[in-house]
Amino acid sequence: AVHKIAVIGGDGIGPEVIDQAVRAAEVAARKHDGAELKWNHLPWSTAYYKQHGRMLPEDGWEQLKPYDAILFGAVGDPSVPDKITVHELLLPMRRKFDQYVNLRPAYLFAGVPCPLVGKKPGEIDMLVYRENTEGEYAPVGGNLYPGTENQIAIQTGVFTWKGCERILRAAFEAAQKRPRKKLTSITKSNAQVYGLGLWDDVFNTVRKDYPDVDSSSLLVDAAAMDFVRKPEVFDVVVASNLFGDILTDLSAAVTGSIGLASSANINPTKKFPSMFEPVHGSAPDIAGQGKANPLAAVLSAALMLDHLGLAKSAAAVRKAVATVLAEGRVKTPDLAGTHTTTDMGNAVVEAVG
Ligand code: NAI
Ligand code: MG
Repeated sequence: AVHKIAVIGGDGIGPEVIDQAVRAAEVAARKHDGAELKWNHLPWSTAYYKQHGRMLPEDGWEQLKPYDAILFGAVGDPSVPDKITVHELLLPMRRKFDQYVNLRPAYLFAGVPCPLVGKKPGEIDMLVYRENTEGEYAPVGGNLYPGTENQIAIQTGVFTWKGCERILRAAFEAAQKRPRKKLTSITKSNAQVYGLGLWDDVFNTVRKDYPDVDSSSLLVDAAAMDFVRKPEVFDVVVASNLFGDILTDLSAAVTGSIGLASSANINPTKKFPSMFEPVHGSAPDIAGQGKANPLAAVLSAALMLDHLGLAKSAAAVRKAVATVLAEGRVKTPDLAGTHTTTDMGNAVVEAVG
């Protein structure tokens, strides 16, 4: 089978890490699933913006719709406000394509030091399901009397029964398929009684359909402490947009490096394409120097292979990454080594077969 993939490298280290992800995924798909990946590189980025006055063509969203998946690097450049780059390309994509599941795994690989919490390889193994279309990031609010000392800003969180139900069900389905079958729902419903109170109501309704899953609820402040103190107790974690965002930077830090943190923005109905991207940004501080760790992008491509139904290829990519990290011969600077982005990509491609 042929799978059509749109590639948006974006800015800074985005294209550097995505190149390596494309190589690894292509080799794995061919070798392990006999599948062909057809890549189409789209130049949408800050450079594109400077030339055309917009981040993507007028019919850009229409152009993306027929693809089986989107592989995304990162956007953001010091010369243009994030309000344009991130807000015109990345954030609308999640909403326009209704990518309501933001899946962010956190796994402690052998060979990666864990100085923050001192856990052993494999001890941290969680899947965070972050709600990706509403909640605290809903573009609802306003500004009164701007620029005066009477200024009032209102930022409204939007929680809907349907929105809560679909992310909670996605998380429960995932928990059911994992050996530990455990799920933790994160809220702050003792303080945010309306929005997260609704979340809790939905949680208590949905959990009845999954009696085999050991589910519980935890307040976000306690969760922040436990992510550091005892991250090994978590299996599947499900959280609102803001809490999921913050907790996954924390889970990335405790598992070694933001350079290893992968993510998927999934529309489970497959009505629109899903998008796969490293958690990190464009890292202008190290861009163009070959210092970026491509493994976050490579692991994001593995999530893409899973979504395309190429489970063997996905497993092969993850195994190759685990092997390269465990051997420790090739290490980028974030892992206290001196190898380049391409060295790391080469090592993974070799390990894939
Ligand atoms: P960042 O994630 O780009 O960088 C944070 C720190 O982590 C930097 O020191 C960077 O060198 C390091 N780092 C990031 N990725 C790395 C990798 N693969 N290997 C080794 N080190 C890595 O976050 P920052 O600096 O806050 O944002 C830079 C730009 O990226 C901004 O314009 C921001 O808006 C944008 N951004 C875009 C995202 C996206 O497109 N999904 C996500 C986060 C930020
Ligand atoms: Mg974030």
